Amino acid sequence: MQIGQKIMRFDRVDSTNNYTANLLKEGKIVHGTVIMADTQTAGRGQRGTNWTSNAGENLLFSLFIAPDNLSVENQVALTHFASIGIVEVLRKIGISAEIKWPNDIYVNQKKIAGILIENTIKGGIISNSIIGIGLNVNQIHFENFNATSIKIETNTFSSIDSIVFKLIDELNTLWEFIQKSDFQTIKKRYLNSLYQLGTKALYQDDSGKFEGVIEGVSEMGYLQIRKEGELKEYDLKEISFLVASD
Ligand code: BTN
Repeated sequence: MQIGQKIMRFDRVDSTNNYTANLLKEGKIVHGTVIMADTQTAGRGQRGTNWTSNAGENLLFSLFIAPDNLSVENQVALTHFASIGIVEVLRKIGISAEIKWPNDIYVNQKKIAGILIENTIKGGIISNSIIGIGLNVNQIHFENFNATSIKIETNTFSSIDSIVFKLIDELNTLWEFIQKSDFQTIKKRYLNSLYQLGTKALYQDDSGKFEGVIEGVSEMGYLQIRKEGELKEYDLKEISFLVASD
């Protein structure tokens, strides 16, 4: 089944990812189903954070995916798939966005979208995945000053429907790479949009602040930074991005 062939929309749910997980538990969901809501009462972000969004103003989207044969070693392809999908949609509406490793979408140092991927792994295979996407569309005031939206960037109102259909189109195109196990193409496209790739910048690891250069991501998705001549690999909790004033 194509991605988005079935779309379920709700005024209000706790979290579109939770709603999807519950349908999965009940055996009532098929590959490619999209769950959307106008508002979430318990929207979730990465690392146990909350995801807040004004009612009806933004895209709150979960995609249920059941890959044919995606092994755990290649699970990072799902991060690449979702990140590029959003960057491409934004590019098509004139916004140049970047992926801040691993999967935050930024425009001029401000976050426009976040991704929360929850996989079920059985015997070394990703049996299914819930890919949650929160994309700021028409909201213009944020509690977090470091956020932006399509409306802020383009000064134009966008219908959430038009954005969701564009996103579904992109994801269908990108899904073919995953189906063909062409993980290299998808990784290359991810690297093409990776924030601070190849430029000297400030980071912090467990031994302190340092100036380094992102050179890529490993096969498992770890961030590779050249630090004092040595190529180091970092997992999410092991590295922070600093700005020049930090
Ligand atoms: C992050 O950057 O912290 C990830 C944010 C993910 C938010 C989306 S909104 C739709 C889906 N449902 C959730 O509860 N979270 C994701």
